[in-house]
Amino acid sequence: MTELLWHDFFKIGIDFIDDDHKGLLKIMQEIKSTIKECDYKKRTSLLALLLKEAEEHFSREENFLSEVNFPGQEKHKMYHKELLIKADATKRLCEGVESEDDMVKCFDGMFEFLIDDILRGDIKFKSYLEYEGYIKKTS
Ligand SMILES: [Fe+2]
Ligand SMILES: [Fe+2]
Repeated sequence: MTELLWHDFFKIGIDFIDDDHKGLLKIMQEIKSTIKECDYKKRTSLLALLLKEAEEHFSREENFLSEVNFPGQEKHKMYHKELLIKADATKRLCEGVESEDDMVKCFDGMFEFLIDDILRGDIKFKSYLEYEGYIKKTS
């Protein structure tokens, strides 16, 4: 199963973004426990919460990128949109799965979307923020 722990290399350096990312990881960890506990009701509500929180995070992040005039903001917006479509489709798929093994696989696919946002997506604006002096250079 995908590891859902926070690592320092995930850190962007903008507090609300890092807090949002940590919060999303936490919801995913909770979803993971509901698989083991076979708590279907809790899992369904956590899944809805995850998508809602992800959507809100994306929109906060997009507002910020517009404030700092990030040149790739339109592309990043599209990227978020695609991630949400992908996550929603995976959520529907996961809800129909019954065996624990298949469920783990299904959620792994879904969780990757957020890790994708941080590692592949947000890293692109991190270097811009460093260059423009919004955050301190970390490496
Ligand atoms: Fe993000
Ligand atoms: Fe992002």
